[in-house]
Amino acid sequence: MPPSRTAPEAAAPQDRLDPSKMPRHIAIIMDGNGRWAESKGLPRVAGHKAGVESVRETIRACSDLGIQALTLYAFSTENWLRPVSEVNELMRLLGWVLETEIRELCRNNVRLRVSGRLQGLPPALISRLNEAVRDLSGNTGLILNLALNYGARQEIVDAVNAALASGGRTLDEEAISSHLYTAGLPDPDLLIRTSGEMRVSNFLLWQIAYAEFYVTSVFWPEFRKSHLVEAIAEYQTRRRRFGAV
Ligand code: IPE
Ligand code: IPE
Ligand code: MG
Repeated sequence: MPPSRTAPEAAAPQDRLDPSKMPRHIAIIMDGNGRWAESKGLPRVAGHKAGVESVRETIRACSDLGIQALTLYAFSTENWLRPVSEVNELMRLLGWVLETEIRELCRNNVRLRVSGRLQGLPPALISRLNEAVRDLSGNTGLILNLALNYGARQEIVDAVNAALASGGRTLDEEAISSHLYTAGLPDPDLLIRTSGEMRVSNFLLWQIAYAEFYVTSVFWPEFRKSHLVEAIAEYQTRRRRFGAV
């Protein structure tokens, strides 16, 4: 019999990862859509549209890698300062993505949560979000947490008020954590920001107390599974000390 001519299968990018050291929760500041578009002579909204493919691929990759939770920063409380046309386009795009991706999310066993002041969003988007949360509620895989109309300072203020309203006179860390939008989720182990910016932009200020920070210069619309794997590989080399020696 002639020797087999089948080429050995190429190693998948995730093969370099140590499965025993995976982050439980990854949070991403998806940044650089506008600059990506401008670099191509396109309007900023073209960058937001192109970023949808990165969202899709990142969710799928996190599911495949067995990550517990993925928080995506999609719209901040400060993003209302942008031109109305850009804000409207972002809201429209979010609604459209929820509608078109729901089947794929379900196939991937993804659950959905939302972090942020929902009541400030357009009513049509709120109903679509509630519908999607409900439709995916029976799933058991990745928790996709969308940070929408999200501001961390506002979240902490809301949590403190809610904790006081529920009868606490002196609050402890647990009282505050359990009233954050992210109650019940593990704190992010890995915080990724694309586009090279080295700031937190009012994202998860409480929850990232001990997150490992990873910044890549790649613009969000170019972010692919290989970049995610690179970030996790770097995370796995970090020695997390949590203040000890
Ligand atoms: C991130 O990309 C998307 C949102 C903030 C909604 P940007 O729109 O901030 O892109 P840059 O930073 O202007 O390039
Ligand atoms: C942070 O990005 C918000 C989101 C990714 C949704 P921005 O582009 O709004 O942050 P700044 O303005 O550069 O700090
Ligand atoms: Mg930006």
